[in-house]
Amino acid sequence: MTHSNIQDPVVSRQTPRSDFSIDQCWSEYTADEHAVWDLLYARQLDILKDRAAPEFLEGLETLELSRSGIPDLERLNPALSALTGWEIVMVPHLVPDDVFFTHLANRRFPAGRFLRRRDQLDYLQEPDVFHDIFGHVPMLANPVFADYMQAYGQGGLRALNLGTLKNLARLYWYTVEFGLINTPNGLRIYGAGIVSSSGESRYALENAEPNRMVFNLERTMRTNYEIDKFQKTYFVINDYAQLFKATQQDFGPIYDRLIADTTSYDTKEIISEDQLIG
Ligand code: PHE
Ligand code: FE
Repeated sequence: MTHSNIQDPVVSRQTPRSDFSIDQCWSEYTADEHAVWDLLYARQLDILKDRAAPEFLEGLETLELSRSGIPDLERLNPALSALTGWEIVMVPHLVPDDVFFTHLANRRFPAGRFLRRRDQLDYLQEPDVFHDIFGHVPMLANPVFADYMQAYGQGGLRALNLGTLKNLARLYWYTVEFGLINTPNGLRIYGAGIVSSSGESRYALENAEPNRMVFNLERTMRTNYEIDKFQKTYFVINDYAQLFKATQQDFGPIYDRLIADTTSYDTKEIISEDQLIG
């Protein structure tokens, strides 16, 4: 597999620190990279203004992510940290699970430094700076969601020890990456994997194919997912406090059940307890 980040000379010349972080070297992004960011940004904003969760759009605004070009962490981090105490660290590629969770548990979000090429606007396998910053950072400006992400990091370290990471990773997938939220104006998107994809931003709300169901913690943890296709099932929360509260309980008993009975559901499956929406 060819990794796009290997073609980023600013990444490949650096030796990552022990926490896998590297320097952004913002001044070394090329004019073309900034232009590709602007193109992605304009395209997504047009789609998302009526589809993204209000908290996501608010985050874009307060953090001034609409400024032209790839964000400079020297500007973005003070702004984000003043709001919720989070900051972004640059990494060369996907980091090992324990490293990822340790960053989250300390309110640091690891982001890829490289940007997708012009011929990859729609899909790439590894998270780049557009997915990681445009997709994830706006929600980190929301205090409740910010706490959820930190708690997830702590929970990740625990799941790693208990051997239940597969289940916990599904929760991340169906909330942080592909979550939908109910609002007075209808369903809206808060998941980073959706907001950074022009195709899935429309599909997630408008296509008749996928299931949209009321969020159920243990159900998400038993639901398989496919990383290279649009989702066949989305889970819908009512607010972030509900999500936070559901995940504040001790997962020990849930993990015991998941270990004793390893039933998992197919991406498209509907079971009797599911509450479908729409
Ligand atoms: N409460 C979970 C546990 O006991 C930790 C967690 C919090 C997991 C938030 C995910 C999200 O392991
Ligand atoms: Fe992501």
